[in-house]
Amino acid sequence: MKQIMTEKNQNSGHGDRVYITTYGCQMNDHDTERMYSLLEMNKYLQATSPEEADVIIINSCSVREKPVHKVMSEVGTYRPLKEKNPKLKIGIGGCVGQQEGKKLLSQTKLLDFVFGTDTIDQLPQIISEVRVDKKRAAWTKVGHRDAYQIQTLVRNPKVSAFVTITKGCDNFCSFCVVPFTRGREKSRLLSELIKDVQSLVERGVKEVTLLGQNVNSYKSPDGNGGFTDLLRAVCEETNIERVRFTTSHPKDFDEDLISVLVKYQNKLGHFVHLPVQSGSTRILELMNRGYTREEYIHKAKRLKEELPEVAFSTDIIVGFPGETDEDFDMTLSMLEEIGYENVYGFKYSPRPFTKALKFTEQVAESVKEERLAKLIELQDRLGFDFCKRYDGKIFPILVEGPSRTNKEVLTGRTTHNKVINFEGPSSLIGKTIDVRVLKAQPFSLRGEVV
Ligand code: 5AD
Ligand code: SF4
Repeated sequence: MKQIMTEKNQNSGHGDRVYITTYGCQMNDHDTERMYSLLEMNKYLQATSPEEADVIIINSCSVREKPVHKVMSEVGTYRPLKEKNPKLKIGIGGCVGQQEGKKLLSQTKLLDFVFGTDTIDQLPQIISEVRVDKKRAAWTKVGHRDAYQIQTLVRNPKVSAFVTITKGCDNFCSFCVVPFTRGREKSRLLSELIKDVQSLVERGVKEVTLLGQNVNSYKSPDGNGGFTDLLRAVCEETNIERVRFTTSHPKDFDEDLISVLVKYQNKLGHFVHLPVQSGSTRILELMNRGYTREEYIHKAKRLKEELPEVAFSTDIIVGFPGETDEDFDMTLSMLEEIGYENVYGFKYSPRPFTKALKFTEQVAESVKEERLAKLIELQDRLGFDFCKRYDGKIFPILVEGPSRTNKEVLTGRTTHNKVINFEGPSSLIGKTIDVRVLKAQPFSLRGEVV
């Protein structure tokens, strides 16, 4: 009993403040919320700035360019704070933490601890060992054999919440570090997920986004269903109003999913983020993506046939090793062929442990820049024409809250995942109302309540 009491006290923050900065994807945003939740349960408070923090954590991303440099220079900016307050502890978590481990500790004395993507739930204990036991260490063990059983932790649920359905990835795309930083793919139990979503509904949540590196390969560990079964169950067995999911993998996108998207469109909306990465089959093969250009186009067209309203967005990498002008032209033509609402373009960046790191035909930085500029220019033009189809239309909008840039204005998204801003009283937040589009722009719409 005595030992338990001691541990309990040790883990407790006693009102000390924690500040977390977050890089990268929605999974990381969600992990940060989990860290704050766990720490608040252990009597820490969220600091509003690094200046008032007793513990600073950088939740890092290593998917693209110079990630180690980025986090290390952020640690460097905290030197004056550490000089003022020698008790301040600084940690790095997330994918860079997982990837680099204790190497980071030898790079700067300012850094006190490192933890990985699979040790988030131990964070209160880790911080206590750092603060009370004066330990300086890295906690980056990955529980390859452990089942993935967590409950979504959200402190003050808003209209919309994230729910992780799988973690890790087994696809090993040749450019991607995620299988190495987030480990083997594991799914949560379907029955637990349904409970999780329903309990969020009971706390006022109207929309959930189901998160996974490759949601299509979700498989309940008790054999009780795959991704489409999960979507059916979430739509039918919970009272959630809207369901989104990301990220879909084109290789696993199938007819069953198309039929679910059609059947439950009132909840699932008319939007799919389907990263194509390249429009050249030769490059797709080198990327180990598991589909050809033609297969991708066929799947997108099939979905459009069944759900004509559907909007797509995509991720594209330019300058992958060996990418010729012809390959890149095929990527550009993909934009015209599919008609994407949004395109997220990235310059290829070599990543540790990945297969493409060893590919010899690396593309010059200047060529990558040129190609990225061309890609953006084309999408700006296409996106502008594309969004005109929304002009004057009326859409049911779930009001999410005040707009990020103007607190006087409300914001929500159409079922196509298009942001729309409009004026209205804050009492509308959380309600679904009809909004007419007054002006359609590529990144957001302006509207008025009908
Ligand atoms: N270089 C550039 N972009 C990358 N992405 C993943 N790994 C790399 C890399 N090594 C992009 C992909 C992916 C998105 C999340 O990040 O387009 O879909
Ligand atoms: Fe990375 Fe490919 Fe897995 Fe996506 S599917 S996380 S790009 S390895």
